[in-house]
Amino acid sequence: MIAKLQQELERRMGPGEAAAGFFAPGRVNLIGEYTDFNGGHVFPCALTIGTYGVARRRGDRRIRLYSLNFAEDGIYETSLDELIYRDIDGWSNYAKGVVWAFREKGYAIPAGFDFLCYGNIPNQSGLSSSASLEVLVSKVLIELFGLPVEMVEAALISQYAENRFVGVNCGIMDQFAIANGKQGHAVFLDTETLSYRHVPVRLDGVSIVIGNTKKKRGLHDSKYNERRRECEQALQDLQQVCRIRTLGDLTEAAFEEAAHVIHEENCRRRARHAVYENQRTLQAVKALQEQDIATFGRLLNASHISLRDDFEVTGPELDAMVEAAWKQPGVLGARMTGAGFGGCTVNLVETAAVPGFIEQVGRMYEEAVGYPGEFYVVEIGDGAKRI
Ligand code: GLA
Repeated sequence: MIAKLQQELERRMGPGEAAAGFFAPGRVNLIGEYTDFNGGHVFPCALTIGTYGVARRRGDRRIRLYSLNFAEDGIYETSLDELIYRDIDGWSNYAKGVVWAFREKGYAIPAGFDFLCYGNIPNQSGLSSSASLEVLVSKVLIELFGLPVEMVEAALISQYAENRFVGVNCGIMDQFAIANGKQGHAVFLDTETLSYRHVPVRLDGVSIVIGNTKKKRGLHDSKYNERRRECEQALQDLQQVCRIRTLGDLTEAAFEEAAHVIHEENCRRRARHAVYENQRTLQAVKALQEQDIATFGRLLNASHISLRDDFEVTGPELDAMVEAAWKQPGVLGARMTGAGFGGCTVNLVETAAVPGFIEQVGRMYEEAVGYPGEFYVVEIGDGAKRI
């Protein structure tokens, strides 16, 4: 793959310094949804699908960016002195945003560069193709310019680009999992302290199946920011009576006792999800470590119900796909994953039952929404790396 991208780069951008090769994965979150901007825990893993890139330094300040996935866009040309967000710059805004973010954080980028990439994460699927690109570009800058930046910081800088340059007020989960994933392991991250641990995902005889609803995201980003504001409002109300820094500081019982002080009913339900989901995540990690996959699966199911009823980020497509999954033999758990409103589900399915699962859920989903979904049996891979 890298050799092919190197050839493409020479062909489209002309000869120059030999280009170095990089990879950053996509991610799937097993459990811990909408807990990351609430100071809670998340439990995502990096996938073996992701974004490949090649890059080389230039002798001037120009930056040239090309994606084989958006070949019709041609080469985006910019420079270190023109790092501004523009809608017409499409995907390249994510790359520009990362360069901008490194400089905002005080890292000198001494020269421009040429960059060409290709990704095999289905677009708009909620498997974090944009965070994958951001972390990939972070890795490129670190390596090309020898920047003293560890991958935890690279994740934070990538998130900063998304928050301040692109304008989506996301938490740290996606960039963190992509920067720090490990083959065969999930990342158990405390989003308040950023302390984390790799937990082996041993699912003897059980596969992780991702279901893509293929629902376009539409209003997704504005709804995302709205949920974040609702959680912040609930926290403010709770802080009148509880000494807490985040919703993640509360147990279920402490929440129930104080919940009446949250003025708006909507905000109360958002906060209830955040609190219970954080506790479910702690229980799920424990269950996985004890090889209790049945309990792990039930917690996934409970997560979906809470995201559907209290957080209200599922929608008819995700609900149809998850509800179809729950009815299948050999399914230990199923829920939406990522930001919701469309995108993907994550399912734990006995490996022998996977072909039947895909056929049945595929059929039921199409009957319910009128168009087909897509299914992938995935492997857990490493975080971003030079290759
Ligand atoms: C998106 C965001 C993450 C996280 C999830 C929901 O993927 O980028 O930070 O908030 O939604 O858990």
